[in-house]
Amino acid sequence: MSADVRPIAESELHDWLRAVHTGFLTATRVTDSDVAQRAKYNDLARTQGAFDGETGRCVGAFRSFAQELTVPGGAAVPVSAVSNVGVLPTHRRQGLLTRMMAAEFAAAGERGDVLATLIAAEYPIYGRYGFGPATTLTEWEIDVPRTGLDRRWSAPADGGRIDLVDAAEFRRFGPALHDRVRAAVPGAVDRGERWWNVATGLEEMSHRPYKEKFHAVYRTAQGEVAGVAVYTADDHWTDAKVPQNTVQVQDLLALTPQAERALWHFLCSIDWVLKVRTGYRAPDDLLPHLLPDPRSARVVTSADFLWVRVLDVVRALGARTYEVPGVLVLEVADEAGPAAGRYRLDAGAGVCERTQEAADLRLGVSALGSLYLGDASAARLAALGQVVEERPGAVASADAVFRTARRPWCPDVF
Ligand SMILES: CC(C)(COP(=O)(O)OP(=O)(O)OC[C@H]1O[C@@H](n2cnc3c(N)ncnc32)[C@H](O)[C@@H]1OP(=O)(O)O)[C@@H](O)C(=O)NCCC(=O)NCCS
Repeated sequence: MSADVRPIAESELHDWLRAVHTGFLTATRVTDSDVAQRAKYNDLARTQGAFDGETGRCVGAFRSFAQELTVPGGAAVPVSAVSNVGVLPTHRRQGLLTRMMAAEFAAAGERGDVLATLIAAEYPIYGRYGFGPATTLTEWEIDVPRTGLDRRWSAPADGGRIDLVDAAEFRRFGPALHDRVRAAVPGAVDRGERWWNVATGLEEMSHRPYKEKFHAVYRTAQGEVAGVAVYTADDHWTDAKVPQNTVQVQDLLALTPQAERALWHFLCSIDWVLKVRTGYRAPDDLLPHLLPDPRSARVVTSADFLWVRVLDVVRALGARTYEVPGVLVLEVADEAGPAAGRYRLDAGAGVCERTQEAADLRLGVSALGSLYLGDASAARLAALGQVVEERPGAVASADAVFRTARRPWCPDVF
């Protein structure tokens, strides 16, 4: 079946959104306000559609946008974020995603993009395109009565305070707080105007109506906003009139461990609440150890999350810093992609360049994406056959150089 793959026109946004929603099984109805929102935010030159050759209907969707990704060392690297990927069930496994991805990589080459990122709906989809899982998400469920905390809320011992504010106030201070938090979190990405408007109910997607949230802000003794917890709660009572509510954390941002501690303790002090679900956290989050009994926080989700595709190895490896000095020569395989070649990384100098020197390690570009933010273990990838050691000791050096003291973390779906 023939299909035309190309950037869409604004007049095709309705049909394109229907394809996105149908692909994601969210809805088929598309409202005028959905279309207006996309017209405002989508970069149409980066919004691709696949159009059926016979009916002319949009049967595949794909979009990318400019994003900033914090890498180890704190640099905010401009990357290309891939989103809204969907092909109608009637047109799957006919190569449409492959064609849209190829067009995206060609455009990324022209733009000079360093990396591409995405959140993979399913694990097997994106490795073939050179993406590798680069961060891990963990969600805990806290059994509040088991925490060992005193349930009576009292102001934080550090002199800070917690106040409940409305969404409008969160909209005012949230972006600046988030920018400061993400600068210290490798794996975190920026949040644009649309993210903030949707998160605070100023704009709504018809298939995902806004639900009112609570916002607990932590201020230091000096009055500086240093953290926020955004949460919802269900309304659940037993027949015997015993409250059994669960708090679901939507977002918890903290500039300091003090703010983090105060916010978790606050959430665990709310009357009627038996369980707190933490939302997406880093696998080495402080949380369990901020509770007197860390075992009261049970892991309920642990999965790969942000996927990274290195497009320009020299600039990508030059953009982050490394835990220890060391020189590694990497032979990167990238079938039909732009990253293939042999590279010499001088981690001490923070410089990567192409080289003719003998390789220390051979790996595919997908494994490089997994190593990039410091989460994956080179030794583990070597055991899995995804990294091949050409010089004895090179795998151990790669782990010393690439891995980070704290694990990278991306809290945002995009
Ligand atoms: C994922 C999706 C976009 C793939 O689109 P598609 O046009 O069918 O993909 P292609 O035909 O280009 O597939 C290329 C290859 O990937 C494989 N593949 C695609 N999707 C896959 C999946 N979900 N699981 C396993 N393999 C998959 C295909 O079998 C094909 O392999 P082959 O070349 O060996 O035959 C489509 O299945 C879809 O819309 N799924 C539901 C929504 C979704 O998951 N979107 C992704 C959000 S991140």
